Amino acid sequence: MSSDREQVLREMGLGPVWKLRVEAVAAPGEERVAATPAAPELVPDGVAWSAPAIVTATSPLSMPWEELAATVAACRQCRLCEARKQAVLGVGDVNADWLFVGEGPGAEEDERGEPFVGQAGKLLDSMLAAIGLKRGEDVYIANAVKCRPPENRKPADEEVAACRPYLEQQMELIRPKLIVALGATAAQTLLQREIRIGAERGKLHDWRGVPLIVTYHPSYLLRTLQDKAKAWEDLCYMRAAMQALRSA
Ligand code: URA
Ligand code: SF4
Repeated sequence: MSSDREQVLREMGLGPVWKLRVEAVAAPGEERVAATPAAPELVPDGVAWSAPAIVTATSPLSMPWEELAATVAACRQCRLCEARKQAVLGVGDVNADWLFVGEGPGAEEDERGEPFVGQAGKLLDSMLAAIGLKRGEDVYIANAVKCRPPENRKPADEEVAACRPYLEQQMELIRPKLIVALGATAAQTLLQREIRIGAERGKLHDWRGVPLIVTYHPSYLLRTLQDKAKAWEDLCYMRAAMQALRSA
Protein backbone atom coordinates (compact mmCIF):
# COMPACT_ATOMS: atom_id res chain seq x y z
CA MET A 1 0.00 0.00 0.00
CA SER A 2 1.51 3.34 -0.97
CA SER A 3 1.99 5.88 1.77
CA ASP A 4 -0.35 8.23 -0.13
CA ARG A 5 -3.11 5.72 0.13
CA GLU A 6 -2.39 5.06 3.77
CA GLN A 7 -2.55 8.76 4.47
CA VAL A 8 -5.92 9.05 2.74
CA LEU A 9 -7.30 6.04 4.58
CA ARG A 10 -6.09 7.46 7.88
CA GLU A 11 -7.75 10.79 7.17
CA MET A 12 -11.00 8.98 6.49
CA GLY A 13 -10.63 6.94 9.64
CA LEU A 14 -10.55 3.86 7.41
CA GLY A 15 -7.20 2.38 8.33
CA PRO A 16 -8.24 -0.37 10.74
CA VAL A 17 -11.32 -1.46 8.80
CA TRP A 18 -9.46 -1.56 5.52
CA LYS A 19 -6.55 -3.42 7.04
CA LEU A 20 -8.81 -6.04 8.52
CA ARG A 21 -10.33 -6.79 5.15
CA VAL A 22 -6.99 -6.95 3.39
CA GLU A 23 -5.49 -9.18 6.05
CA ALA A 24 -8.48 -11.47 5.91
CA VAL A 25 -7.96 -12.28 2.22
CA ALA A 26 -4.17 -12.23 1.96
CA ALA A 27 -2.20 -15.45 2.20
CA PRO A 28 0.73 -15.41 4.69
CA GLY A 29 3.61 -13.37 3.32
CA GLU A 30 1.50 -12.09 0.48
CA GLU A 31 0.56 -8.46 0.30
CA ARG A 32 -2.76 -7.73 -1.29
CA VAL A 33 -3.86 -4.28 -2.20
CA ALA A 34 -7.52 -3.61 -2.88
CA ALA A 35 -8.09 -2.43 -6.43
CA THR A 36 -8.80 1.21 -7.07
CA PRO A 37 -12.03 1.42 -9.03
CA ALA A 38 -11.66 2.21 -12.71
CA ALA A 39 -12.30 5.75 -13.83
CA PRO A 40 -16.00 6.13 -14.54
CA GLU A 41 -17.21 6.44 -18.05
CA LEU A 42 -19.10 9.63 -18.56
CA VAL A 43 -22.23 7.91 -19.69
CA PRO A 44 -25.20 8.37 -17.38
CA ASP A 45 -27.66 5.49 -17.58
CA GLY A 46 -26.56 4.51 -21.07
CA VAL A 47 -27.21 7.90 -22.63
CA ALA A 48 -24.45 9.53 -24.67
CA TRP A 49 -22.81 12.17 -22.55
CA SER A 50 -21.77 15.65 -23.52
CA ALA A 51 -20.20 18.33 -21.35
CA PRO A 52 -22.53 19.15 -18.46
CA ALA A 53 -25.13 21.62 -19.55
CA ILE A 54 -25.78 24.72 -17.55
CA VAL A 55 -28.70 23.96 -15.29
CA THR A 56 -31.83 25.18 -16.95
CA ALA A 57 -34.32 27.30 -15.11
CA THR A 58 -37.04 24.76 -14.55
CA SER A 59 -37.40 25.47 -10.85
CA PRO A 60 -40.51 27.40 -9.93
CA LEU A 61 -38.32 29.77 -7.92
CA SER A 62 -36.05 32.31 -9.47
CA MET A 63 -34.33 34.36 -6.85
CA PRO A 64 -30.82 35.59 -6.09
CA TRP A 65 -28.93 34.33 -3.03
CA GLU A 66 -29.90 37.17 -0.69
CA GLU A 67 -33.59 36.69 -1.42
CA LEU A 68 -33.30 32.91 -1.14
CA ALA A 69 -31.54 33.21 2.22
CA ALA A 70 -34.16 35.63 3.56
CA THR A 71 -37.02 33.49 2.25
CA VAL A 72 -35.65 30.29 3.80
CA ALA A 73 -34.93 32.05 7.12
CA ALA A 74 -38.57 33.12 7.34
CA CYS A 75 -40.10 30.03 5.72
CA ARG A 76 -43.15 28.36 7.24
CA GLN A 77 -44.02 26.07 4.33
CA CYS A 78 -43.94 22.90 6.42
CA ARG A 79 -44.27 21.93 10.07
CA LEU A 80 -40.49 21.64 10.53
CA CYS A 81 -40.54 25.42 11.05
CA GLU A 82 -42.23 24.86 14.41
CA ALA A 83 -39.37 23.36 16.41
CA ARG A 84 -36.36 24.80 14.59
CA LYS A 85 -34.07 27.37 16.18
CA GLN A 86 -33.09 28.53 12.72
CA ALA A 87 -33.26 27.33 9.15
CA VAL A 88 -29.91 26.08 7.79
CA LEU A 89 -29.56 27.04 4.15
CA GLY A 90 -26.10 25.72 3.35
CA VAL A 91 -22.44 26.59 3.53
CA GLY A 92 -19.56 27.07 1.15
CA ASP A 93 -18.40 28.43 -2.13
CA VAL A 94 -21.33 29.57 -4.26
CA ASN A 95 -19.21 28.99 -7.36
CA ALA A 96 -18.20 25.49 -6.29
CA ASP A 97 -17.67 22.63 -8.73
CA TRP A 98 -18.69 20.20 -5.96
CA LEU A 99 -22.11 20.17 -4.33
CA PHE A 100 -22.78 17.75 -1.47
CA VAL A 101 -26.38 17.26 -0.38
CA GLY A 102 -27.33 15.66 2.94
CA GLU A 103 -30.66 15.04 4.62
CA GLY A 104 -31.41 17.72 7.16
CA PRO A 105 -29.90 19.61 10.09
CA GLY A 106 -29.39 17.88 13.43
CA ALA A 107 -29.21 19.50 16.85
CA GLU A 108 -25.78 21.08 16.41
CA GLU A 109 -26.58 22.30 12.94
CA ASP A 110 -29.83 23.85 14.21
CA GLU A 111 -27.85 25.54 16.98
CA ARG A 112 -25.04 26.86 14.78
CA GLY A 113 -26.84 27.48 11.52
CA GLU A 114 -24.35 25.46 9.47
CA PRO A 115 -24.80 22.01 7.88
CA PHE A 116 -22.72 19.02 8.97
CA VAL A 117 -20.99 20.45 12.03
CA GLY A 118 -21.74 17.53 14.39
CA GLN A 119 -20.31 13.99 14.41
CA ALA A 120 -21.47 13.22 10.87
CA GLY A 121 -19.96 16.52 9.79
CA LYS A 122 -16.56 15.54 11.18
CA LEU A 123 -16.67 12.38 9.11
CA LEU A 124 -17.80 14.35 6.05
CA ASP A 125 -14.84 16.72 6.53
CA SER A 126 -12.50 13.70 6.66
CA MET A 127 -14.07 12.27 3.55
CA LEU A 128 -13.58 15.60 1.77
CA ALA A 129 -9.96 15.73 2.96
CA ALA A 130 -9.42 12.23 1.59
CA ILE A 131 -9.95 13.53 -1.93
CA GLY A 132 -8.18 16.83 -1.38
CA LEU A 133 -11.30 18.90 -0.69
CA LYS A 134 -12.13 21.31 2.05
CA ARG A 135 -15.42 22.73 3.25
CA GLY A 136 -15.89 26.14 1.66
CA GLU A 137 -13.18 25.74 -1.00
CA ASP A 138 -14.78 24.73 -4.28
CA VAL A 139 -17.31 22.83 -2.17
CA TYR A 140 -20.85 23.74 -1.21
CA ILE A 141 -22.81 21.69 1.33
CA ALA A 142 -26.59 21.74 1.60
CA ASN A 143 -29.42 19.55 2.85
CA ALA A 144 -32.69 18.24 1.46
CA VAL A 145 -34.60 20.03 4.22
CA LYS A 146 -33.41 23.26 5.80
CA CYS A 147 -35.03 22.85 9.21
CA ARG A 148 -34.25 20.24 11.83
CA PRO A 149 -36.68 17.33 12.04
CA PRO A 150 -37.51 16.84 15.74
CA GLU A 151 -35.69 13.95 17.47
CA ASN A 152 -33.55 13.58 14.37
CA ARG A 153 -36.28 11.64 12.64
CA LYS A 154 -36.20 11.34 8.88
CA PRO A 155 -37.98 14.20 7.16
CA ALA A 156 -41.43 13.19 5.87
CA ASP A 157 -42.14 13.14 2.14
CA GLU A 158 -44.27 16.26 2.31
CA GLU A 159 -41.55 18.13 4.21
CA VAL A 160 -38.93 17.19 1.62
CA ALA A 161 -41.33 18.19 -1.15
CA ALA A 162 -42.07 21.55 0.49
CA CYS A 163 -38.36 22.31 0.80
CA ARG A 164 -37.22 21.02 -2.58
CA PRO A 165 -37.64 24.30 -4.50
CA TYR A 166 -35.03 25.90 -2.22
CA LEU A 167 -32.52 23.13 -2.90
CA GLU A 168 -33.22 23.33 -6.62
CA GLN A 169 -32.75 27.09 -6.55
CA GLN A 170 -29.42 26.62 -4.76
CA MET A 171 -28.34 24.13 -7.42
CA GLU A 172 -29.26 26.49 -10.19
CA LEU A 173 -27.38 29.36 -8.59
CA ILE A 174 -24.28 27.23 -7.95
CA ARG A 175 -24.32 25.24 -11.21
CA PRO A 176 -21.90 22.62 -9.86
CA LYS A 177 -19.95 20.30 -12.10
CA LEU A 178 -20.82 17.33 -9.92
CA ILE A 179 -23.48 16.66 -7.30
CA VAL A 180 -22.96 14.10 -4.54
CA ALA A 181 -26.12 12.90 -2.83
CA LEU A 182 -25.31 11.68 0.69
CA GLY A 183 -27.82 8.99 1.56
CA ALA A 184 -31.21 7.96 0.25
CA THR A 185 -33.17 11.05 1.28
CA ALA A 186 -30.96 13.36 -0.78
CA ALA A 187 -30.78 10.88 -3.65
CA GLN A 188 -34.56 10.42 -3.76
CA THR A 189 -35.19 14.13 -3.54
CA LEU A 190 -32.96 14.80 -6.51
CA LEU A 191 -33.71 11.78 -8.67
CA GLN A 192 -37.40 11.65 -7.79
CA ARG A 193 -37.62 7.89 -7.39
CA GLU A 194 -36.97 5.20 -4.78
CA ILE A 195 -33.24 4.79 -4.29
CA ARG A 196 -31.26 2.09 -2.55
CA ILE A 197 -27.76 3.42 -2.16
CA GLY A 198 -26.19 -0.04 -2.41
CA ALA A 199 -27.73 -0.50 -5.84
CA GLU A 200 -27.19 3.02 -7.19
CA ARG A 201 -23.67 3.89 -6.03
CA GLY A 202 -20.80 3.74 -8.51
CA LYS A 203 -22.93 5.12 -11.34
CA LEU A 204 -23.17 8.51 -12.90
CA HIS A 205 -26.76 9.72 -12.61
CA ASP A 206 -28.17 12.90 -14.03
CA TRP A 207 -29.91 15.85 -12.44
CA ARG A 208 -31.15 18.18 -15.16
CA GLY A 209 -27.94 17.77 -17.12
CA VAL A 210 -25.61 17.80 -14.10
CA PRO A 211 -23.83 14.51 -13.26
CA LEU A 212 -24.86 13.14 -9.88
CA ILE A 213 -23.29 10.40 -7.75
CA VAL A 214 -24.95 8.77 -4.77
CA THR A 215 -23.10 7.45 -1.75
CA TYR A 216 -23.75 6.55 1.86
CA HIS A 217 -24.70 9.21 4.38
CA PRO A 218 -21.91 9.88 6.91
CA SER A 219 -24.30 9.16 9.82
CA TYR A 220 -24.94 5.73 8.33
CA LEU A 221 -21.20 5.15 7.98
CA LEU A 222 -20.71 6.02 11.64
CA ARG A 223 -23.09 3.17 12.50
CA THR A 224 -22.04 0.72 9.78
CA LEU A 225 -18.30 0.34 9.80
CA GLN A 226 -18.23 -2.40 7.20
CA ASP A 227 -19.51 -0.04 4.50
CA LYS A 228 -16.72 2.48 5.04
CA ALA A 229 -14.57 0.65 2.50
CA LYS A 230 -17.35 1.10 -0.05
CA ALA A 231 -17.47 4.78 0.84
CA TRP A 232 -13.77 4.93 0.05
CA GLU A 233 -14.45 3.38 -3.36
CA ASP A 234 -17.15 5.99 -3.90
CA LEU A 235 -14.72 8.77 -3.05
CA CYS A 236 -12.23 7.41 -5.61
CA TYR A 237 -15.05 7.21 -8.11
CA MET A 238 -16.19 10.79 -7.55
CA ARG A 239 -12.65 12.12 -7.73
CA ALA A 240 -12.13 10.30 -11.04
CA ALA A 241 -15.49 11.57 -12.31
CA MET A 242 -14.53 15.15 -11.52
CA GLN A 243 -11.18 14.73 -13.27
CA ALA A 244 -12.93 13.37 -16.33
CA LEU A 245 -15.53 16.15 -16.27
CA ARG A 246 -12.86 18.81 -16.03
CA SER A 247 -10.98 17.42 -18.98
CA ALA A 248 -14.12 16.78 -21.07
N1 URA B 1 -26.88 15.19 8.66
C1 URA B 1 -27.31 15.79 7.54
O1 URA B 1 -27.85 15.19 6.65
N2 URA B 1 -27.13 17.09 7.43
C2 URA B 1 -26.53 17.81 8.37
O2 URA B 1 -26.42 19.00 8.18
C3 URA B 1 -26.08 17.15 9.53
C4 URA B 1 -26.26 15.83 9.66
FE1 SF4 C 1 -39.57 25.85 4.92
FE2 SF4 C 1 -37.91 23.88 4.28
FE3 SF4 C 1 -38.00 24.74 6.79
FE4 SF4 C 1 -40.04 23.36 5.80
S1 SF4 C 1 -37.95 22.61 6.13
S2 SF4 C 1 -40.18 25.25 7.00
S3 SF4 C 1 -40.06 24.07 3.66
S4 SF4 C 1 -37.31 25.91 5.00
